[in-house]
Amino acid sequence: MTRSLLSAADLDRDEATALLDAAVRMHAVQSREVKKLPPLRGRTIVNLFFEDSTRTRSSFEIAGKWLSADVINVSAKGSSVSKGESLRDTALTVAAMGVDLLVVRHGSSGAVQRVASWVACPVVNAGDGTHEHPTQALLDAYTLRGRLGELADRHVAIVGDIAHSRVARSNVLLLQTLGARVTLVAPPTLLPAGVGGWPCETDWDLDATLSGKAHGDVDAVMMLRVQRERMTGGYFPTEREYAAGYGLSPQRLDLLDEDVPVLHPGPMNRGLEISSAAADGPRSVVLEQVQAGVAVRMAVLYRMLAGAAEGAA
Ligand code: NCD
Repeated sequence: MTRSLLSAADLDRDEATALLDAAVRMHAVQSREVKKLPPLRGRTIVNLFFEDSTRTRSSFEIAGKWLSADVINVSAKGSSVSKGESLRDTALTVAAMGVDLLVVRHGSSGAVQRVASWVACPVVNAGDGTHEHPTQALLDAYTLRGRLGELADRHVAIVGDIAHSRVARSNVLLLQTLGARVTLVAPPTLLPAGVGGWPCETDWDLDATLSGKAHGDVDAVMMLRVQRERMTGGYFPTEREYAAGYGLSPQRLDLLDEDVPVLHPGPMNRGLEISSAAADGPRSVVLEQVQAGVAVRMAVLYRMLAGAAEGAA
């Protein structure tokens, strides 16, 4: 496996499939009474988070702990970052303590790649700005595989604030690697510049996409959060209008077959991009995604730390 995991494009089909298969085995640990495996005993993992997180940070922490690693959380709030320490100095300081792997989240696109270029240990990108979030794409693929089986030729609609979404970018890359087809649906203002070069189709019409009229039958729908904290201008007139055009309302749910899973990476804005009927209904796999997050991150940590040692031996 690659030394660091910075982009979903770092994974070829064999490697991505191997990770997803390993995650199936790791998932079994979740239902055991004693949730502890020994392979990363004596290894130290630091979660270095410069941006808020609930799911990603805690699932990396749980994943590391269930594999018996020591996991330490360092966040910008409460660290010397708030005293003005630079990213490079913070990263080098943490890495100098004998850390085996860094999990890094940062609000600027490209920042995690910079950290990886400064430190000697492998780095996992847990989200950098609007750029990438590869382990989210892996846990989404894991969840989709659990529902749909193999992803080759499956059609996934990714809907909402694509422009600010690292989740969308990583998903487009990984789903393409796995042979699936993606349609991105958003108002024109929320499609990123250069999306024409991405390996996917795009549309502004959510109803035409969900009904299958525009791009063929949809096998899964992934709703994205409207990322207000990253918005600098007016991307849509009002929240009400956004919800009317792009929210997954109860009426829109009816356009989907009953077995079409609805994904959302969380945190959700209920009533904006997703209705409670969609978030809590029988098609929703939101909590399966959270469960998958632990299993997939165990697989990533295992293959990057123990897997590499096995290879060297
Ligand atoms: C996503 C993120 O932080 O990029 N959330 C997550 O990791 N579960 C998506 C989001 O914040 O909307």
